[in-house]
This record gives sequence, structure tokens and C-alpha cells, in this order.
Amino acid sequence: MTEDLKRAAAEKAVEEYVESGDVVGLGTGSTASHAVRRIGQLIAAGELHGIRGVPTSARTAALAREAGIPLVDLADSRPAVTIDGADEIAPDLSVVKGLGGALLREKIVAHASLRGLVVVADGSKSVGSLGGVPLPVEVEPFGYEATLAALASLGCEPTLRLEGQGSQTGDPGRPYVTDGGHYTADCLFPDGIAEPGALETEIKRIPGALETGLFVGLAHAAVVARADGIEIME
Ligand code: 5RP
Repeated sequence: MTEDLKRAAAEKAVEEYVESGDVVGLGTGSTASHAVRRIGQLIAAGELHGIRGVPTSARTAALAREAGIPLVDLADSRPAVTIDGADEIAPDLSVVKGLGGALLREKIVAHASLRGLVVVADGSKSVGSLGGVPLPVEVEPFGYEATLAALASLGCEPTLRLEGQGSQTGDPGRPYVTDGGHYTADCLFPDGIAEPGALETEIKRIPGALETGLFVGLAHAAVVARADGIEIME
């Protein structure tokens, strides 16, 4: 059921926001994967022409190749639009991302996109305010203990993400390593996140905190599928 909603949101976003000739930022995660597959199907059916994709992870690059989407990187072209999933979406379209482990590259691609980010999700991701899930922060492995202590001083409970947790596979007990060679701290703010923009700025002041899963001002639309229909938030 949830999978059907994820697919419905992703396919609607492709229909509404992707045009022939576009370079498309391809997000990471189970919902974004449905968009990648849909773009591949439309290329194969001759309904989309001249599409190229910028993948946000090695996983997505492999899926896109399988789906028949030609790939380019940011050195060659800027995406027109990026379609990606989220872990939480607030009414003002600020989002938490990164539980799937690819937030730094996702943010670089979304930020480079000319028409911005389109978030795709099932209704469970739509929230009144952010912070019900831990906020992922990508951190430099060198001195990560000090970085986690600095994050804790901001009022959260940071946990180093390990392989085998959540959607991460691999050797249980070892730190999860991102495509960029970094660790991830999952930071639970017990009272939620009242001011996402201010928190993002605070976290980015910590030298070892490379990027946060707070995407503020990057999404220009969210396509949210529920059992009773699809909502487009703009
Ligand atoms: C990966 C992400 C994902 O987009 C996010 O975790 C949502 O994943 P899913 O669609 O599988 O629920 O941010 O870094």
C-alpha cells in the first residue's frame, strides 16, 4: 500500500515536472527510485526525448543505467529539476532528508537545479513541523567524536549511524560510510525542530559537520500521495 502511494507520487511528479530535453537530478531512496524507473519507461516508450540524469548516489546511478537513462555529471550540465524523496515535509516545504544515507550529494544536486527540488512522498511524511525523526548530519570521519559532542551541545542526542541499520546494508557494527567517504550522525531533537533555517546555520558552524539533512528553501513543490488522492504543494 505504502509502496503504491510512493509510486503514485513519483509518477505524478514526473508527469508534472519533467519535460523532454531536461537534465534531471535523480534522487535516492525507495520513492525516488519509482521516478527513475518511470522516466526510463517513458524514454523507452518514446514519450520523453533527450533526457539526461544526474544521479545523487552510486545506487541511483546503477538504477538509472538499468532504466536506460543516459547520465551526465554536474561538470557538464545543471539539472533543470531534481526529483527526490524525503523523511519529513513541513507545510512551508522545508524538509528533512538523509535517512537513506545520501544527503550531501542530494543537496548539492538539488541546489544546482534551475527549477529547484520536487519532493515526492507518501502521506506519512507530511508533518506539521519537523523533528519527529532524527536529523541526519553528514560528518567528517576525522575527529567525529568531537563533532558528535558539538552536535549534542545544540540540544540533540546524536548517534553514529552503523552499517546494517535502517536501509543501510553491510557489516553490522561498522560506521556507515557515504558515497563521499563520510560518516552520518542521526540527531534526535527531543522537542522537535522549531526553526530549521537557524538550526542549519548553527550546525554548519561545527567544522566537522559537512552538511545537514535540513533542506530549507530548496523545494519548490512536493507531491504527496494519500489513499484519497494526490496533493501538490507549491
Ligand atoms: C536519502 C533520502 C531519501 O530520499 C529519504 O530517506 C526518503 O527515502 P524513502 O523514499 O525510501 O522513504 O533522503 O538520503
